[in-house]
Order: sequence, then structure tokens, then C-alpha cells
Amino acid sequence: MDFALNDIQEAIRDVARRASQKLLALNAAAYDEGAIFPEENLKALGEMGLFGVNIPERWGGAEAGAVSYALAIRELAAGCAATAVTVAVTNMVAEAINTFGDEVQKARYLTQITAGAYPAASFSLSEPGSGSDAASLRATAVREGDEYVLNGTKAWVTSGGHAGLYLVMARTDPDAPPAKGISAFLVEAGTPGMTASKPEKKLGLRASTTTELVFEGCRVPAENRLGPEGIGFQIAMTALDGGRIGVSAQACGIATAAHEAATRYATERAQFGRPIGDFQAIQWMIADSATQLEAAWLLCLRAASLKDAKVRFTREAAMSKVFCTEAANEICHRAVQILGGYGYTREYPVERHLRDARVTRIYEGTSEVQRVVIAREILKSL
Ligand code: CAA
Repeated sequence: MDFALNDIQEAIRDVARRASQKLLALNAAAYDEGAIFPEENLKALGEMGLFGVNIPERWGGAEAGAVSYALAIRELAAGCAATAVTVAVTNMVAEAINTFGDEVQKARYLTQITAGAYPAASFSLSEPGSGSDAASLRATAVREGDEYVLNGTKAWVTSGGHAGLYLVMARTDPDAPPAKGISAFLVEAGTPGMTASKPEKKLGLRASTTTELVFEGCRVPAENRLGPEGIGFQIAMTALDGGRIGVSAQACGIATAAHEAATRYATERAQFGRPIGDFQAIQWMIADSATQLEAAWLLCLRAASLKDAKVRFTREAAMSKVFCTEAANEICHRAVQILGGYGYTREYPVERHLRDARVTRIYEGTSEVQRVVIAREILKSL
């Protein structure tokens, strides 16, 4: 077993680390406070090639693989988790187009994403009444000649109102079983009939914009359907398998930042005449966080390596997501505990890390859904 990174993986990690430390981290607190969409960060990261880390060079990507992608997202999330999720979802949409798109769609849209021509790309599956039960979605797409007419309301759209391109799942066959009657569409920003609502007011990731998308008679060219009719749910699930590696890496990045801040603080803060890091109570917290973080990251790398080896990784991605995100929440809670009252204020970053970590247990499939996926994969393999 080889735990060493190759040259490409190291190079991607270093590019992301530099950007994270020299750009993202500097504005993260202000962007969070003001709920400011991080356009400047995204422009720079798009130009660095971080919107198509696992996309072939032919389509403008870095062709660096899923492990590189995880490394990049982890680094970015340590600096600004809101920027990291925006980049992660953009990569997820790029990968869906690369896997399911035709040559025209790749030439028209994938090259735009990888070139950083859009501030972001969005993934739109959930609806107000359809979250964990994704197959129950109700938005419709009705074919009329060379177009589909989209109607309905989508929810929790990362980068809604800012993205240049939306990957939207809608029902094309109301008579088919729920998961079989859904198709996927590429909808350009500015298409008449598609509007983004006001951004949600969130606990964390406040610089990442989350909106509803309302479709009212929105006409999309039939050539913008991604893949054949009826495979939209499969496209969404395939995308989410990869997306869950991204959320795992994001959680590890947030946890790394919180853990490092808490460890540093433990060497600087003195009580009872000694640095608090001298006390076993604090040492145990540091040890538990370091161990959990290491285990989490190995699970994330394992899922990413299977993806790179083109082996089915649904189960491992779900294991990685549930473990990394729950570990990250515990690590952030511990970091706040180590900083005590200061950790509870915005003077120190661990308060933001704790708020940012919370949603990783919810989006791209809750911890409970991950456990369903893991158990189903195990049971069906018997
Ligand atoms: N890859 C490919 N195909 C898959 C698949 C996968 N990982 N998982 C399921 N499918 C296929 C199945 O094979 C099945 O097809 P067949 O009948 O031909 O075999 C079909 O899809 C239906 O599968 P299920 O019967 O398992 O479907 P289900 O209705 O029971 O749902 C679920 C399963 C795991 C609960 C799924 O609905 C799920 O993942 N829910 C969570 C949704 C989610 O993660 N939403 C997040 C949205 S994105 C977001 O968070 C916002 C953002 O931008 C960050």
C-alpha cells in the first residue's frame, strides 16, 4: 500500500494551499459576516484550473483525478469553506457533463466551466417537498417540439442567482416509477422563466449563496437534455457519489483549520501558571481530534482512490461522508471548548468553523441517508 502522493497530486495540493492561505483565508471572516458571495476568490480559482480538476485536458480540465480533487477541496476549505463548497459543486456539475454529455455539450459548456468563464455551476435536485426522498421530485419538463418546458420550484441550490449554468433534474414521465421518470437538463443563466429567490439566511457557509429556483414556462432546447430521457436520477446519484468525496474533503479542511487553531491556542493560553496544553484534559482533546482527523482523511482518500481506479465507490463515498462530517463537527466543538469563552466569539475563527461544519452532515445526503446507502450496499452484496 502506497500512501505517497504523485507529482500531479502534490502540485494541485500546493496550488490550492497557496490560494487558500494567500487569498481565501484573508477574507473568509468578512465574507461570512456580510454573507458576500466570494466572486474574487472564484475568479482566481477558476483561472487556476480548479473548476475541472478531474476533467480531461481535451475539455480544458487538469485531468488530475479524484485524489487531487479531494486534496484541493480540503486545502480550500481550510481557508474558506464557503468558497470550497462553491468550487466543489462546480466540479460536480463539470464531471456530470463529462460523464453523461455529448460532444456538443462538452464543447459548449464543459470548456466554459473549466476555463473559469462562469463564476460557478449549480446542481439542482432538491425541492421544498423533496429532500432525502430525491426521487419524489415534482418539477416537470414537458417536451414541445425541439424544446422542453420546465415548471416547478427547486430548493437549496448552491450558487443560485450567481452560477452561469444549472444542472436541473425534472420529471419527464409522470407515469414511470419515480426514479425512472426523471431527466437532467443544462439550463443557462438568464434563460427566461427561471428565477432565483432571495438567498437563504443560514447558520454557516454564509458566503455561499443558497436559493430556490423557480421555473415558470422555462423553455430549454432539447439538445440541452443531459443523457437520454429517464436517467436523470441515475445522473444525480452518480454525481452525488463523487460529490460526497468533495463534502468529506471539505469537512476535513474545516476540521484541520479548527484543530490547528485550537492547538496553537493551547500553547499560548496560560492558566494556573502554565500553558493550558500542559493539562491532560486539553491534551486528550487534541489527541482525539488529531486521531479522528487522520482516520477521516484516510477514508476520504480511500473513496477517491477507488474512483480513480474506476471501481464502484458508492459505499466508500458514503462511509467517508458520514465519518468525515461527523468527525469534523466533533473536532470543531472540541476546538471551541479549548478556546473557552473566546471560542464562542467571532474574534477567533473556530466559531465560524463550527457553524460551517454543521451543514456537511446535511447536504449532499444527510448522515442518515449515508447510513441507508452503506447498509443497502452491504446487504445487496451478500
Ligand atoms: N449510482 C447510480 N445509480 C444509482 C445510485 C448510484 N449511487 N443509487 C441509486 N441508483 C439507481 C438505482 O440503481 C436504481 O435504479 P434500478 O432500479 O435500475 O436499479 C434507482 O437509482 C433508484 O435507486 P433507489 O431505489 O436506491 O432509490 P431511492 O428512492 O430508494 O433513494 C436514496 C435512495 C439513497 C435515499 C437517494 O434518494 C438519496 O441519495 N437521497 C439523498 C439525496 C441527496 O443527497 N440530496 C442532496 C442534493 S444536492 C445538495 O445538497 C445541494 C448542493 O448543491 C450542495
